[in-house]
Formats: sequence, C-alpha cells, structure tokens
Amino acid sequence: MKHAKLGDLDVSRIGLGAMGMSTAYIGPGDDVESIRTIHRALDLGVTFLDTAEVYGPYVNEELVGRALKGHRDDVVLATKFGLISHTGRDGADSSPASIRTAVEGSLRRLGTDRIDLYYQHRVDPRTPIEDTIGALAELVAAGKIRHIGLSEAGVSTIRRAHAVHPVTALQSEYSLWTRDPEPAVLPVLRELGIGFVPYSPLGRGFLTGQIRSVGEIDDADFRRSNPRFSAENFERNLRSADEVGAVAAEVGATPAQVALAWLLAKGDDIAPIPGTKRVARVEENAAADQVTLSPAQLDRLDRIPPAAGDHHNEEQMRMIER
Ligand SMILES: NC(=O)c1ccc[n+]([C@@H]2O[C@H](COP(=O)([O-])OP(=O)(O)OC[C@H]3O[C@@H](n4cnc5c(N)ncnc54)[C@H](OP(=O)(O)O)[C@@H]3O)[C@@H](O)[C@H]2O)c1
Repeated sequence: MKHAKLGDLDVSRIGLGAMGMSTAYIGPGDDVESIRTIHRALDLGVTFLDTAEVYGPYVNEELVGRALKGHRDDVVLATKFGLISHTGRDGADSSPASIRTAVEGSLRRLGTDRIDLYYQHRVDPRTPIEDTIGALAELVAAGKIRHIGLSEAGVSTIRRAHAVHPVTALQSEYSLWTRDPEPAVLPVLRELGIGFVPYSPLGRGFLTGQIRSVGEIDDADFRRSNPRFSAENFERNLRSADEVGAVAAEVGATPAQVALAWLLAKGDDIAPIPGTKRVARVEENAAADQVTLSPAQLDRLDRIPPAAGDHHNEEQMRMIER
C-alpha cells in the first residue's frame, strides 16, 4: 500500500471509514464481521481509520476501540467532535468546554491515550474558529491529540484556523459525483500544505453500480433521505454509475476501484476513506492502490456530469460551508 502525506502526517493512501459499521447504511453485517474487516484492512496495509463521536452515537468508537486492542500502534486513528454538545446546547458545539469533555469520552471509548487526527465535524457558527482551534492546540500540547482536522469547512474558516495552529487535514465529501472541493478548497489546501481526506468516495455505495434501484435500499437507511437517491434523481444518476462501470470494464478493475483510483490520481496529498463492513469489500477497495488509469480514462471520468440532487438534505447542507 502506497502512502500519502496529510500535512506532515503519513497515512496509507486508502483508509477505512467505520461509520457504516454502526449507523447510516442498513445492510448485511454484524460487529464480528466489522471487526474482521478492520483486522483485514490492517493486514492489507490500510492503516488510516476513521470514526466519530456521533456515529451511533458513541458505539462506533467503542467498536473501533475493541478492534484495535493490541493493534493501536499500527494505525493512524482519526475521530471527530462537535455534533454532540457537552454543554447543554442544541446542535453543533465546538466550544472549548464541550471539546474538553468530548475528547475524554473519545479517548476512553477508543481505549487509547492519544488521537492521531481530531477533526471538528462541522463548523460551529456560534463559536469563533479561533477559540475552537485554541482549545485543540492545548490538547496537542497535552499529548491527547496529535493533529487537528476540519470537516466541510470553507476557505475562510480554513485560513483562520490554520493561522492559529497548523491544520493537518480537511475531510469533506469528494468523489466522481461530488466535485465541490475542486475550484476553491483544494487550491487553498495546497497553498497551505493541508492534506485532503475525501469522505463518501464511493458516493455512499452508488458509484459501485451495485445499487440499481431505490427500492433496494431499506426504508430506515440514511440514503432514503438523500436527494441523490430520490426516485427521479436516482434514475438520472444511474448514467454516471454506468460510465464508471464502462471504464472499469476497460481497465479490468471494479467500479469501486475506479472511483478510488480517480481520487488517488488527483494527488499524493489525498487519502480517501471508503466505508465498508465486509472483509471482501475492504480487500477490493484496498486493491484500488494498484489500479492505474490512463489520461484518456481520467478525462472520461472527469467529464461525468454533476450529480442530480445535492449531496445532503437541506438541513445538513446548511451545516456545510461553501
Ligand atoms: N466528515 C463527515 O461529515 C463524513 C460524512 C460521511 C462519511 N464520513 C466518513 O467517510 C467514510 C466513508 O463514507 P461513506 O461510508 O459515507 O460512503 P462510501 O465510502 O462512499 O460508501 C459506503 C457504502 O458503499 C458500500 N461499499 C463499500 N465498498 C464497496 C464495494 N467495493 N462494492 C460495493 N459497495 C461497497 C458500503 O456497504 P457495505 O458496508 O455493506 O460494504 C456502504 O454502503 C465513513 O465511513 C465515515 O467514516 C464522514
């Protein structure tokens, strides 16, 4: 497995997102298979693990913590705070007091004495980013966290944050059907030497071509409330999945591998974190490290039209900085 540099943090260039092991996506699987998936990822050299306090809530960090018993030093462990308030507020809370409580809970659930990369999950409009980063810098100094990250922050917040303490990585949605970071965010990250972690790099499973109709998705699945999975948009978006499939057939790879290889081709400061709770799929996704796309194939993928529908529902879009 090749590696990527996020700021000065070295990570496997394909990571593993643990969210779906506990929440969001309904499908076959259980904790035993999820833990096996994490262990298989480590065997394959996938050492960059992603979770968050809010996944579950809490149980996803506990699951990752159980899986990492005896393996802690083999991974770069990333988690997030800020969508749960520990000060009694409604909604996002990145106040220093909330962070100081959040970090202790995450450390305990993960069974570790330090978090390698600690992200603010969403920008908190009620707390100046300088205050949030100031509190995080104190946690760095105390050795409780090693690196600071942001998620779905816009360029102004990124610049303000980085002026207080170096930001190591931004984690935002980026994939063949979510190109939003390209025009403004990626150039600023490169100017400042900040790495990029694309989340939902497989379009929440859609780009793999494995989901062919909305009816296949459970009513309780998070995707049911995602505009791109509405009946009308889904049909239109299928053309994009088919295009990924056509390139995959040409390359002799799977669509998931092509979606990941396209992201990897965007730079060695990019480390996507595809999510799966299945051993066979973590093997497939990790093997995307070996897939090389030709300039013509990259160009064909670049020309896939924007997806129909926003990448989150309205309420969630309001929490994303543009
Ligand atoms: N910062 C944020 O706000 C934010 C938001 C969303 C996600 N994330 C992070 O990013 C990670 C990845 O994003 P994501 O899980 O939303 O989306 P994703 O990685 O784009 O897709 C995950 C979905 O694709 C399926 N899948 C995975 N590999 C596959 C393959 N090879 N073939 C067919 N289907 C496959 C998974 O199902 P199975 O599990 O059944 O294999 C799951 O339903 C999350 O786990 C989380 O850690 C962060």
